[in-house]
Amino acid sequence: MISKKLLKALSDQLNAEFYSSYLYLAMSASIDNEGFKGFANWLYVQAQEERTHATHMYEYIVDRGAVPEFKAIEGVKGDFSTPLKIFERVLKHEENVTKSLNAIASLALEEKDHATYEFIMWYVNEQVEEEDTADEYLTRLKLSEGNISAIYNLDTILAARTFTDPFGGAAA
Ligand SMILES: [Fe+2]
Ligand SMILES: [Fe+2]
Repeated sequence: MISKKLLKALSDQLNAEFYSSYLYLAMSASIDNEGFKGFANWLYVQAQEERTHATHMYEYIVDRGAVPEFKAIEGVKGDFSTPLKIFERVLKHEENVTKSLNAIASLALEEKDHATYEFIMWYVNEQVEEEDTADEYLTRLKLSEGNISAIYNLDTILAARTFTDPFGGAAA
């Protein structure tokens, strides 16, 4: 049986993953309308990936014999009018996600819930790549400031991203 404290933390994280999905969708919509179809594509795929994180978390909680708490998903606010503004926010957002995942890992260890520790460590490790990617694109965008052809070059690269379910399932 999963502890109440851990169930709350996992439910909050499930909610946060849906918020991440929501945030990336909002970014995608804004930047699509600014003419950056490649950035829009990358962010849309990112939103799909975040949704699988949420549903995977849902499955884990239910498998442990518990029911997650379904709280309201926070609304999205922000200025997503340029790729640079977006990636500044993406990096900050992913750094915050890493913090909350680390806190869950610590709590799981504290409660000697090793199954949850193992489960959440997949996400913790995934964050290394998430932060690295966001940091790489942010650096490139900073270097490309004012150089529209360099930004469009990156847009073309990001247009190639396709979605694959990280858990290999059909739930997407
Ligand atoms: Fe996520
Ligand atoms: Fe993420």
